Amino acid sequence: MPNPVPQSVATRVGLVFGGRSGEHEVSIRSARTVAEALSTGANRQRYRIILHYVTRDGRWIVGDGATAALSGTIPVTPDDRLPRLPTTARQVDVWFPVLHGPNGEDGTVQGLFTLLDQPFVGTGVLGAAVGMDKQAMKAAFAAAGLPQVRYVCATADGLAHPDELVNRVEQHLGYPCFVKPANLGSSVGISKAGDRGALLTGLRAAARLDNRLVVETAVTARELECAVLGDGNLNASVVGEILYDTAWYDYTTKYSPGHSSLVIPASVPPSVRDQVRRLAIRATQAVGAYGLGRVDFFYQEKGRTLYVNEINTMPGFTSQSMYPLLWQASGVTTEELVHRLIELAQVRHQRRNFTSAH
Ligand SMILES: Nc1ncnc2c1ncn2[C@@H]1O[C@H](COP(=O)(O)OP(=O)(O)O)[C@@H](O)[C@H]1O
Ligand SMILES: [Mg+2]
Repeated sequence: MPNPVPQSVATRVGLVFGGRSGEHEVSIRSARTVAEALSTGANRQRYRIILHYVTRDGRWIVGDGATAALSGTIPVTPDDRLPRLPTTARQVDVWFPVLHGPNGEDGTVQGLFTLLDQPFVGTGVLGAAVGMDKQAMKAAFAAAGLPQVRYVCATADGLAHPDELVNRVEQHLGYPCFVKPANLGSSVGISKAGDRGALLTGLRAAARLDNRLVVETAVTARELECAVLGDGNLNASVVGEILYDTAWYDYTTKYSPGHSSLVIPASVPPSVRDQVRRLAIRATQAVGAYGLGRVDFFYQEKGRTLYVNEINTMPGFTSQSMYPLLWQASGVTTEELVHRLIELAQVRHQRRNFTSAH
């Protein structure tokens, strides 16, 4: 029997999940995978998990309530007395936010941990915020010279003059095009427009969710994804492909079983694979992100053309998700992956303190 390391030596990991975004349920499933990986093999000795469940209205719950939430029996008795901030910071050595979408993947929670001066897994405020907002992300990609589909930025306020806005889209893009709110995820609020009427309907629907909007030329392409891990020295995983039996990868396709499948590694020529991996690293750098990220691409076989679609700085982490599966296929188990992510967080924090002290 190996001698168990005393509990006090184990690093205390504040695992944060749930959250206020539409991806609340996915976050719970992602956190289950992370919690299991942190409790497996060598990690059992290294880490002690302190679960933090954030309710849909942004209240932080620890202890039994958080355990119940992780196992799927969510105690949703709204309670205004619960705090909107963690009160447990002194018991946590490193934070592991597994929150997707707004209020988790957009720099807000990263700002909180930065103020607390504690290490946290994943990118910092800048990379999260730029990676989340599709207008800012596209501007950063463009500045870095990355290939993207043609796009037009708009605001909900611009709908006060709908003809002007629609004319601008028609002039720059034409049809079909995709309309997107800038700050959501999971395909929520996205629609494909084939004519002026559909474009206007799509813009109005997206404008109900976000003031910042993006319209893009619709391309017919395969969808490839690549995982990134590291800080300074970034590593790219093998390349994966998403296949689906619907017109595009919308919310229902993403979350109802049986409509989509993953192919790892993707069947693409080696030159395309290598280019995807290089572009994934450049896209991560372009938005100032580090730690982890998943970069998504459109690939047109004809002409072997690649476009960077987006970066997700806290990608899905469920047992079926592309991010951990891509690393498994690259030889990094999920157990090793979460350990590396925590080490990266700790090193980054030490370096930050060193820099700010000098
Ligand atoms: N310009 C486009 N051309 C073709 N398909 C698109 C385009 N933009 C989005 N899509 C489809 O919509 C899906 C969701 O769009 P995406 O920008 O990735 O939003 P989200 O951040 O919500 O995942 C994509 O995976 C793809 O299937
Ligand atoms: Mg996407």
